[in-house]
Amino acid sequence: MARSKRYYVTTPIYYVNDAPHIGHAYTSLACDVLARFKRLDGFDVKFLTGTDEHGQKVEKSAQAAGVDTQVFTDRVSRNFRDLAQAMGFTHDDFIRTTEERHKRACQDLWRRLMDRGQLYLGAYSGWYAVRDEAFYGEGELTDGPDGKKNAPSGAEVEWVEEPSYFFKLSEWGDRLLKFYDDNPDFIAPRSRRNEVTSFIKGGLEDLSVSRTTFKWGVPVPGDDDHIMYVWLDALTNYITAVGYPETDGGEYATYWPADLHMVGKDILRFHAVYWPAFLMAAGLEPPKRVFAHGWWTNEGDKISKSLGNVIDPLELIETYGLDPVRYFLMREVPFGNDGDFSRRAMINRMNSELANDFGNLAQRVLSMVNKNCGAAVPMHAGFMEFDYVILNPAQDLISTLREYMDRQEFNQYLETVWSVIRAANGYVDRQAPWKLKKDDPERMGTVLYVLTEMIRQIALLLQPFMPDSMDRMLEQLAISPEHRTFAFLGPDHALVPGTALPKPEGVFPRFVEEDGGGKGGG
Ligand code: MSP
Repeated sequence: MARSKRYYVTTPIYYVNDAPHIGHAYTSLACDVLARFKRLDGFDVKFLTGTDEHGQKVEKSAQAAGVDTQVFTDRVSRNFRDLAQAMGFTHDDFIRTTEERHKRACQDLWRRLMDRGQLYLGAYSGWYAVRDEAFYGEGELTDGPDGKKNAPSGAEVEWVEEPSYFFKLSEWGDRLLKFYDDNPDFIAPRSRRNEVTSFIKGGLEDLSVSRTTFKWGVPVPGDDDHIMYVWLDALTNYITAVGYPETDGGEYATYWPADLHMVGKDILRFHAVYWPAFLMAAGLEPPKRVFAHGWWTNEGDKISKSLGNVIDPLELIETYGLDPVRYFLMREVPFGNDGDFSRRAMINRMNSELANDFGNLAQRVLSMVNKNCGAAVPMHAGFMEFDYVILNPAQDLISTLREYMDRQEFNQYLETVWSVIRAANGYVDRQAPWKLKKDDPERMGTVLYVLTEMIRQIALLLQPFMPDSMDRMLEQLAISPEHRTFAFLGPDHALVPGTALPKPEGVFPRFVEEDGGGKGGG
């Protein structure tokens, strides 16, 4: 299979310090949509997610819970797996940084960096934020109200002094800038590029990459007093999962460099600066692209445990169903921007876009087919110009949609599919097949055929976002599972008149706004 037909996409690995919330679900959902799209489009996909289990933050959380650290990470990691299952994610691997394969990869990468003269032993004295697991320069800090100093993220910092190995990051500034110039799509969205380049132009200092004051991490090869800095450990997961240190063949040769690391904007610096620098310094190829998405607020407020407004994705799924939640998260904000989560906005979209625009279209058309066409794909008697106007754009859409996916413009993808849905609704109203029933039953058959075929195409295209609902819709069109990839979008695979169809049923529920959750009629 040609290299271009492979796709390796990763989520960040999640800290196991706390319960998963909507922010975690969001990052992985975007990857799941991409992975599903690429598989339907004929790619050999590897989709990786997992948990980040070392470091001071996790160790402290385990201590606070009064539980052995490994037992604690096992438990919290399981919650992330459960969330992935509840969200319908189709990852091919779930990596945990406490696994043996990962320790081997980290230590090998360390040795490579050492062999190439990229690491040296020194002493770190400076500020560290446990919450971010990050070092900060004095100039980046602000004074908090309590007299304590805060990182730009708002995290509290503490003064640290300890022996440490350093990575010669200061030598990589110009090469990183050149790398971004040579690979203009590396940092996405484009608007984020400046913050990365100005960080580099501000001058890179060597990076402390080991700790000695606690033990919860991967031991530094040859120096047992040190464990590896959790970000060097964590970032390495992306190559562990493709079989590193084996680089000559196997999955590494197949999938590396990754096509996309999906991350939140808060961790762009680690992925767009440190990670490519580590890799280049080790003589390995950097990934192709890093996309930094925005953050969700809840009804206008920052989401935080102390505010008690953390959104539990499992509760949302329970209340609204999985696919409407997936749809809303991908549709509501242009991917890359921050977004506000509100129940009202969610219910509005579910009712107007899912239940009305698409649900009604399918329900109306399939009920008419069921009643008036002998519960089978209608016969058509020659298409007219305006039938093609409706049919053709749907078939041509895929090339536009591919571009949106490659740029991670999910809301544009959905917007474009909805323009087709709206066109189909306009066509039903104008053609009024219910009137044709008496005057021109042949023409009625043609109109209903055009509409049914459109529904088939729309359902195929929406599978990455709403897999279960679209399965049910495609079931109603008697499309077998092996005929649901994008290879079947075109006219050669259009519905065959006369094919028996099962009784139609509504796919999208309608919700009542007042109580924020009650299900109405569907
Ligand atoms: N462990 C590191 C990543 C290491 S990757 C080699 C980490 N973990 S995290 O659990 O804190 O965060 C994981 C992801 O969740 C980040 O991409 C972050 O942006 C995302 N989100 C956390 N809260 C969020 C919102 N409120 N909104 C959107 N995404 C947010 O960072």
